[in-house]
Order: sequence, then structure tokens, then C-alpha cells
Amino acid sequence: MNLGEFTVKLDDLLDCLLFALRLVSPVIAGHHHQVAYISQRLCERLGFDEEETFWITLAAALHDIGAVSLEESISDLRFETEYIHDHSLVGALFLEHFVPLNNIAPLLRHHHFCWHPEGNAAAQEVDVPAGSHIIHLADRVAVMINEHEEVLSQRHKILDYIKTKRGTLFHPQYVDALLEISGAEYFWLDIVSASASDVCERLFELKDVDLFEEELLSWTKFLSRIVDFRSPLNAKHSSGVAASASALARIARFSEQECHMMLMAGYVHDLGKLAIPTAILEKDGPLNEYERAVIKGHPYYTYRILQHVKEFGPMVQWAAFHHERLDGSGYPFRIPESRLPLGAQIMAVADIFTALHEERTYRPAMERKESLDIMYQMAKERAINGDLVQLLEQNYDQINHWRQVSQKKSMEEYAAMNPLFARKTERGLGGR
Ligand SMILES: [Fe+2]
Ligand SMILES: [Fe+2]
Ligand SMILES: [Fe+2]
Repeated sequence: MNLGEFTVKLDDLLDCLLFALRLVSPVIAGHHHQVAYISQRLCERLGFDEEETFWITLAAALHDIGAVSLEESISDLRFETEYIHDHSLVGALFLEHFVPLNNIAPLLRHHHFCWHPEGNAAAQEVDVPAGSHIIHLADRVAVMINEHEEVLSQRHKILDYIKTKRGTLFHPQYVDALLEISGAEYFWLDIVSASASDVCERLFELKDVDLFEEELLSWTKFLSRIVDFRSPLNAKHSSGVAASASALARIARFSEQECHMMLMAGYVHDLGKLAIPTAILEKDGPLNEYERAVIKGHPYYTYRILQHVKEFGPMVQWAAFHHERLDGSGYPFRIPESRLPLGAQIMAVADIFTALHEERTYRPAMERKESLDIMYQMAKERAINGDLVQLLEQNYDQINHWRQVSQKKSMEEYAAMNPLFARKTERGLGGR
């Protein structure tokens, strides 16, 4: 298999991403479906062409993705506060790095901007895309629906409010289009029923885009940012593991194609951590039994998320088996050495190597000798492969160099977004 021949369909990746988002927050995932449905109906009514409708609906299906890293729930997004733009910015910054979808980043960035420039100081200086105004309107309709009450009895109150904001918060023409499509009861019933999620599935099937190696790599980096940037402690972890694992794979004579896959697997190895609350990930001190049990789930979820893309093949196991041990006592699959792929054994060594070189609240970052001593001890206990630890020792400077370069780059990206993340502590939403 040559470089460049490894292709994946965009809709498989989106299925995979939406599955991951459902794991983190079923409420936000449901909200995304509702906003996507309303946006698509608005685009149709307004006569937008198929292409434009696709991208706006897709942006609507991901519009609050930044809230995942900021630990904001849908109730935090219900009211327009001074911080409401933080999650829009974070979402946009994530997507800007993923080339196949970077054209929807501006739509995410501005999805809480008022239509009338006077309503929002920043809007006077930027050209807010039409799609952002559509998503803003759709979003406000969706958040006003009280899911505990029958939807049809609420519609008049919601529309009355929207009408009072016609021409200020919302684009007047878009409000008119909403009033037209919302006259039929089925519009509201679709929003609160499973029909809203069908919209996304049908939409992705329409778009048949092949992604090649470089785009796939940027997809894995995009996912790793969503996971890692939830916590300053983890902000550079996945990129360090990715760089160390691919360097080690190259030394272990993996092919160029396999090294590239190892790099991608490294970026997504902890993807399942999306399902774990940051309060546990960042806990300062030893974990109790319950917390340890929750943490043990993360490689399982990595496996289940990545499994959506069959073309990933062995990469799924390399990523998800990184806490398995040669003696079969690892988690969560308890796979013994005989069935543990070498790629997964490399990932396990790279993960430990990277973690030991990272600072923790309870210890400083380790240096060469201390980290190698620990890894040789682990090899002796049949946790990890001793031959790989030896290869690591022989090529320590080279592997460590690539780890440092990669982690430095991640920290620069994190620092660029840092003011947004710092504010979540201020708001008491995270950073515990
Ligand atoms: Fe939002
Ligand atoms: Fe929203
Ligand atoms: Fe892990």
C-alpha cells in the first residue's frame, strides 16, 4: 500500500465524530440534530442551493462542538451572556485546522452574533456569513423548547419572542421564512422526534468525499485537540504519544505507510477520554475505586468510536489497546501478548514514555534514567515489551527530540486558545 492510497469517506468520519459527541453529551448531540433540522428547513425555504444547504446544515450539526472542550452544557448556552462567544471561537479554531471542513469554521465562529450590527460591537467589523444567522435563529428556537412539555403547546410563545427580535437579533427575512415553515405542526414534531437526527444521516450520505493521508492526519489532530484541550494537564499528551509512537515504529522497521498510521493512532489513542468527566481526569491526588473504574472505560470508547471507520483497520487496535499488558491483565480487553499486535505494544510504550516525561500535579516531569528504570521494571513485570524499551533506550535522543518538538507545537496552539480556556475556571464550569 503506497502513501496516498489510504482513503476514507468524509461521511464515515462524520458518523464517527457524531457518535463521539453523543458519548460526551447526549444533550448537546440532540441539540445539534435539532438545530441542523431547523437550519436545513430554513435553507430550503430561502431557496439556498444544495451545496450551500449542505454546508450550513453540517455547520449546524457541529455548531456547539467547542462547548465540549469548555465543559459547557446546553443550559449554559441557553442564554446570551458575555461569555457565549467562547464556545463559538473554540469550535471555529478546532475546525480551521481540519482542511475538508474549514470552510464552516466562520459559520461556527459567528453563530451567536446579532443580525443588526448595533446589537454586537464585533459584528460591525466582520462580515457575518448568512449561515451563521441561520444557525443563530435555529439555535434560539431549539433552546426555547422545553423538552418536558408538549411541543405544540409552546410554539406560539416561542414564535412571539422570535418576532420581537426580528431585525435586531435575527435577520428579518429569515424570521419570515421561519414563520412560514413553522405553521405546520409537523415542523415542531420533527424537531423533537427522531426525524431531526435522520436529517444528519441523510445529509452525510449525499456527500461522497474521499479523504487522503494528509487530510486524515489533520482529522486525527482535530480530534486530539477536542480531547486534550479539555484540560491543561493533557493539552500536549496525544501529540507527544503520536510523535514517539511513529518514531519508535520507524526504528522497529514499520513501513512508511504504517508509521503514518501509527502517528494518526497516537493522536486518537485517548479519544475515549471524551466520555470521562474532567473532574476525574484532572483530580489532584489518588483516584478512588469509582473513579478508577470510570477511567478504565476510555480505551473501550476509543475502540468503539474508531470502529465506525472500517478503513482504519489495524490502526483501531494500535490506538485502543494501549492499556493492555503482555500478561493479559491490562484493560479493558485483557488481551494477552500472543494476540496483542506489535503496533499496540509500541503505542503502550510511547504512551508511558510520554506520560513519564510530562509533569503531574503530584510529581515533576521525569528525565531519561528515571523513566527508563520504570519502563524496564514494567517490562520485567510483563506489562510492556522489553525489546521495545531497549530500542527506545538506544534511540532515546532521537525519539525524545520528536516528542519535544511535537509537544511544544501543541502547547503553542493551546496557548493561543488559552484565554478562552482560562475563563472556564472563572465561570466555575471546569478546571476543577
Ligand atoms: Fe452556541
Ligand atoms: Fe447551540
Ligand atoms: Fe490512555
